[in-house]
Amino acid sequence: MGLIPRTFIDELIARANIVEVVGSRIALKKAGREYKACCPFHSEKTPSFWVSPEKQFYHCFGCGAHGTALSFLMEHDRLPFPEAVEELASSLGIPVPRDSEPRGGERMSEDGRSSGRSKDESHYELMGRVARFYSETLKGNERARQYLAQRGLSREIIERFSIGYAPNSWNEVLRRFGGAEEGKRRLVELGLIVEREASATDQGGRAYDRFRDRIMFPIRDGRGRVIAFGGRVLDQGEPKYLNSPETVLFHKGRELYGLYEARQSRAALTRLLVVEGYMDVVRLHQFSIPYAVATLGTATTPEHLKRIFQLVPEVTFSFDGDRAGRAAAWRALENSLPEALEGREIRFLFLPEGEDPDTLVAKEGHDTFERRLAQDALLLSEYVVRELSQRVTTRGADGRARVAEAARPLLQRVPEGIYRRLLIERLAQGFGFQRTPEGLAELLGVRIDRRPEAGRAPGGIGRGSLVRQAVRLLLHFPEAASLVRAESLKGLDRVEEPGAPLLHALITDLREQPARSTGQVLERWRDRPEGEHLARLAAAEALVPSAAAARSELEQALERLLEETGRRRLDRLLEKDRSEGLSNEEKIEIQKLTTELARGRPLAAAS
Ligand code: UTP
Ligand code: MN
Repeated sequence: MGLIPRTFIDELIARANIVEVVGSRIALKKAGREYKACCPFHSEKTPSFWVSPEKQFYHCFGCGAHGTALSFLMEHDRLPFPEAVEELASSLGIPVPRDSEPRGGERMSEDGRSSGRSKDESHYELMGRVARFYSETLKGNERARQYLAQRGLSREIIERFSIGYAPNSWNEVLRRFGGAEEGKRRLVELGLIVEREASATDQGGRAYDRFRDRIMFPIRDGRGRVIAFGGRVLDQGEPKYLNSPETVLFHKGRELYGLYEARQSRAALTRLLVVEGYMDVVRLHQFSIPYAVATLGTATTPEHLKRIFQLVPEVTFSFDGDRAGRAAAWRALENSLPEALEGREIRFLFLPEGEDPDTLVAKEGHDTFERRLAQDALLLSEYVVRELSQRVTTRGADGRARVAEAARPLLQRVPEGIYRRLLIERLAQGFGFQRTPEGLAELLGVRIDRRPEAGRAPGGIGRGSLVRQAVRLLLHFPEAASLVRAESLKGLDRVEEPGAPLLHALITDLREQPARSTGQVLERWRDRPEGEHLARLAAAEALVPSAAAARSELEQALERLLEETGRRRLDRLLEKDRSEGLSNEEKIEIQKLTTELARGRPLAAAS
C-alpha cells in the first residue's frame, strides 16, 4: 500500500517527459516520431532501444527491456520505486505529497523509511561521519585487522562495505560527536549512545557508547546513506552481534544488508540471494556473488519481499539446515505466498548442517556454490510438498484430509493465478489426490482459473486472441476507451475468455479516468498482478496508426468477443440438451441466444 498517493503518480507521469528522463542519461537520436539509442541494459553496437514520447514508454527490441519513465529510473539508476518517484518529481520541481501517517508524527515514504526531504539531513551526515571514524579506527587497530584477516576478508571488500571497528571505550563516540547537548541528543536518537535513566542520586543520567570493541558493519539505505550499524564481538561474548535499535532512520524489518552494494555492482541485478548474516553477505560478495543480501537478525517480512520484487523477479532464500533454519524458512515461505505472482521465481536453499554461506563459499568456491544454488534450491511448490509431507502424518485413512487441512491456509494466501494452480497440481501429484486440480481446489475452498480449453492458446491472454488484441489497442491508444460506444461494452463483464476481467477492468477504468499515454496506464497497474503482463503487451508494436483506427478495431474486437462467447454458450446448452435435457430457463436462453446471435448482439440481450 503506497503512501505516495496514486493520483500523484498518475499526474507525475502525465507531466513528465520520458525523452528528457532518458535523454539526460544516455544519448538519444531522433528517428521519426521516436528516439533511438544503443540500449543501456545490454551491450550492442547498433541501436535497438526506442523511446516513444507519445506513449511515454521505452522498449528495446534487442533485450526486451521496456517500461515508463519511472521504470527507467528504477532500472537505470537502480532506484527503488519511491525513490524513483522522488527523483522524477524533483526533476520537475514538484514536491511529493504524502498521505498522512495513521500514527501521526514522522511521515514515511512508501518503503517505510522517512523521506530524505522531510527529515533532517544532518542525521545521515552524522551517521556517515561516525562510520568514517569507525573505519579509520580499524586501520589503526592491529587486533581488529587481524580478526578480519583471519575471517578471510580482503582489503578491497572491507572497503567496499566500509567495515570498521568501534574502539574499546565507553565514551569515544560520545566525546567526539556529542559535543553540545544537541549533538548528544542526536546520538541517542540514532542509537549510537545509550542513556541510562536519570535517578535521584545521578541527575541528568549517564550516557555511554553503545558499540565498544566491535567490528562494525554499516547498514546503508537505497541511496547508500548509513542508517544503522551491526557490531560483532571479536572474541567470544554476548551478544555476538549488536545492532542499532529502531530509530528514525532505521526499521530493521524493511532493510536488507548488502542491497545497496548489490545494486552498485556492475552486473545487472536480476535476482537476489537472501542469507542470514552480515558475514555471509560480505563473503559472498567477495566470492563474486554480488546479489547476496541479508535480513538483519529478523525473519523475512512482507516488506522485505515487496522491496525484493520491486527490484528483481527471482529470489532464493538460503537457510541453515538446522531446526532454527527450517523454522525461519517456513516463515519466509508464509510471507512469500502473497507475492507468488506469474513471472516470479521463489526458491529455498537448505545448506548442509553446520555450514553457512560464508563457510561454504570459502570451502567450495564460486562455481560450486552457484551450481549448488542452481541445482539444490527447491522451487516454492516443491518446498511446500516436502514440508507438508514432513509435518503431517500422511498415512492412514485420514492422511489426505490432514494434508488438505494443512494446505488450505497456505493456498488461500496465494493469489489466484498460475502459482495457485501449479501448487494445487503439485499437491495432487505429491499426495495422490484422486481429483482434478479443479476438484482439489474446491476441496481446499479456493478458486483457480479455468484451464484453457484444448485448441485455444495457452495461459493468460491467448496469443493473438481477441482479448489480447483489445488490451493492446487500449494500451497503445488509451484515448480510444472513451470513444467506444457504451453499447459495445454491454455483456463484457460476463465474457468467460481468459483475460476478459482484465480487459473489462482496464476499459472501465480508462473511461472513468482517461489517460494520455501508455506510460500513464502502466503506472496505474504497476502494483497489480497484471502490471508486468500489460507492460509486455505494450512493448509489442502497435497495429493501427491512430486512436480513431484503434476505436473501430476495438469495437470490432469487442463485438466478436461477445459473439464468440455467445456461440460457445449456445454450443454448451445444445450439448446439454442432447445429453441430459434442459430446464425451462435454459430453453428460453437458447431462443434468446439464437435470435441475438443472428442480430449480432448476443450477451446484451441476456443481461
Ligand atoms: P549467526 O549466529 O548465524 O552469525 O547469525 P553469522 O552471521 O554466521 O556470524 P559469524 O560468522 O559467526 O560472524 C546470523 C545473523 O543473525 C543476527 C545477525 O544479523 C547475524 O549476522 N544476529 C546473530 C544478531 O543480530 N545478534 C546475535 O547475537 C546473533
Ligand atoms: Mn557465520
